[in-house]
Amino acid sequence: MTMVKKPFFYIANWKMNLHFHAAVSFCAENYEALLALAEQEGSYLILCPSYIAIEHVNNMFRDTTISIGAQNCSEHNQGAYTGEVSAQSLAEIGCRYVLVGHSERRNIYQETDDSVLQKIMRSLEHSLRPIICIGETQDEREKNLTYDALGRQLEAVCRLLATYPSSDISKSIFFAYEPVWAIGTGLVPTAEEVQQVCLWIKKTVQQYEIPFRAYVLYGGSVNGDTAPDLKKAEGVNGFLIGSASIDFQTLRKIVLS
Ligand code: PGA
Repeated sequence: MTMVKKPFFYIANWKMNLHFHAAVSFCAENYEALLALAEQEGSYLILCPSYIAIEHVNNMFRDTTISIGAQNCSEHNQGAYTGEVSAQSLAEIGCRYVLVGHSERRNIYQETDDSVLQKIMRSLEHSLRPIICIGETQDEREKNLTYDALGRQLEAVCRLLATYPSSDISKSIFFAYEPVWAIGTGLVPTAEEVQQVCLWIKKTVQQYEIPFRAYVLYGGSVNGDTAPDLKKAEGVNGFLIGSASIDFQTLRKIVLS
């Protein structure tokens, strides 16, 4: 009997690390190789360029298995919100995923749990799959408050998701466990710790009986060296990859690990 490989999602969060031309060159120079990675059995590759490059990158990968995501969206539908980008605009230009509540948004731009909820609602209204980022700080970890922090961030989100109609069951929602202390630091939890937390997130989400298929990702210093071990963690359905995703050879190493 042939075993079907479980899906594993690789979400490349380019942050503001690749400017427009660099993002387009990355895709052009590695075009065939990126397609080959996305064609690995069970592998799903999702590229999240900055807003300005989304449409261009999406056009490059039209009719391929590579999908495009945004790094953020507005919590509002429409109106006088200078500088914001709506979920509807993202959907109109071919975006299929959106990161919500990344710790850089929460810390640098003071995003609150409430704005995270609004953004989830906006993205679902426009059929974007939200990738909801949660994670504990170094201080919370040291005080053994990891599960309190995660539980707090999950509660309102799951309560909201539970209010959606059960016909939404075919839609996917992603929870990205990103310990704040592991993002961009080179520090990573052990595979056992990641497994424990990701299984806990799955169990917690299940308790709310949300009518969505929920996947749990890990993010924070995933690179060519840390990926093989982290991949062994049960309950992890993929990686959210920051700085390592802007180097094609490193991204390749992560996918093939
Ligand atoms: P990193 O970032 O891989 O550079 O640690 C991850 C993220 O912020 O999503």
